[in-house]
Amino acid sequence: LPTHYTLPSGDKIPSVALGVWQASQGDVGPAVRAALTAGYAHIDGAWAYRNEAEVGQAVKDSGLSRDKLWLTSKLWNNFHAPEDVEAALDDTLAKLDTEYLDLYLIHWPVAFKKEGNNVLDVGLTADPYPTWKKLEEMVDKGKVRNIGISKVKNLTANPLKYKPAVNQVELNYFNPQPELLKWAKENDLLLEAYSPLGSTKQVKDTLALPVVQEIAKTLAITPAQVIISWHVQRGTVVLPKSVTPSRVEENLQGTFLPYETVVLYFLTVWRVVNPSKGWNIGFDVFDEEWPL
Ligand code: A2P
Repeated sequence: LPTHYTLPSGDKIPSVALGVWQASQGDVGPAVRAALTAGYAHIDGAWAYRNEAEVGQAVKDSGLSRDKLWLTSKLWNNFHAPEDVEAALDDTLAKLDTEYLDLYLIHWPVAFKKEGNNVLDVGLTADPYPTWKKLEEMVDKGKVRNIGISKVKNLTANPLKYKPAVNQVELNYFNPQPELLKWAKENDLLLEAYSPLGSTKQVKDTLALPVVQEIAKTLAITPAQVIISWHVQRGTVVLPKSVTPSRVEENLQGTFLPYETVVLYFLTVWRVVNPSKGWNIGFDVFDEEWPL
């Protein structure tokens, strides 16, 4: 299975990352340390997770050189105004204690007024192009190496200097989004899978699925490894989140062994088990407005 994918910039993004959403203070540092010790080279964070300083400290403690690590963060909804983007990015850079990000995403397709408590900025929500232009400027300044989106659907028809390199969306057994994946591949837009084991309360059900259990048993890997391998075989980056060091380790191991049979077997059995559902279940925030 691929350990990396190549983005339009030529940068190679590691296919498995530690996701740190909902990893609270005191938990996130040990989780990042466990990940870096286990061989992860990619941490998927965000300003809004409120744990960037602890992530930065754990990265520093690891002693790994910066060019061996892939750090992703995300621009929060309150900072979409072009005049606010750079300060928001600088705050993230300071907290992570790094000179640059490998990837910076627009976190949500929704802009809020800076000071308003979740007050919608209708203009920048309808048209994120001014925000995107500022992100392009951040690439040119060297503060970020790649830029992308998360669930965003409405960049305008303006010509883009740098197209979004990735789109981070929910992808899992219950929400596989095959049309989105197909479209993304056709348009050279890499998808990143958040909640890859199922969104929080689905994790247990996903790992207990008979088909997952059966494959895990056949291949002598764990159910989580089956699911994570499946995502990489689909050609997406996968962002399993865990604050449990043993799970952090488990979630990376197994993915890079030659389990090329997993996806075919898994999906074939899934279709047999769910013939009525077809592929089009739970299509996420996405439509055809993209001008890419
Ligand atoms: P924990 O962090 O306590 O280890 P989401 O991706 O929606 O944030 O949810 C991730 C959930 O899946 C977390 O509750 C996490 O638990 C759990 N999880 C992560 N990896 C594994 C694993 N290998 N086995 C079981 N549960 C896991």
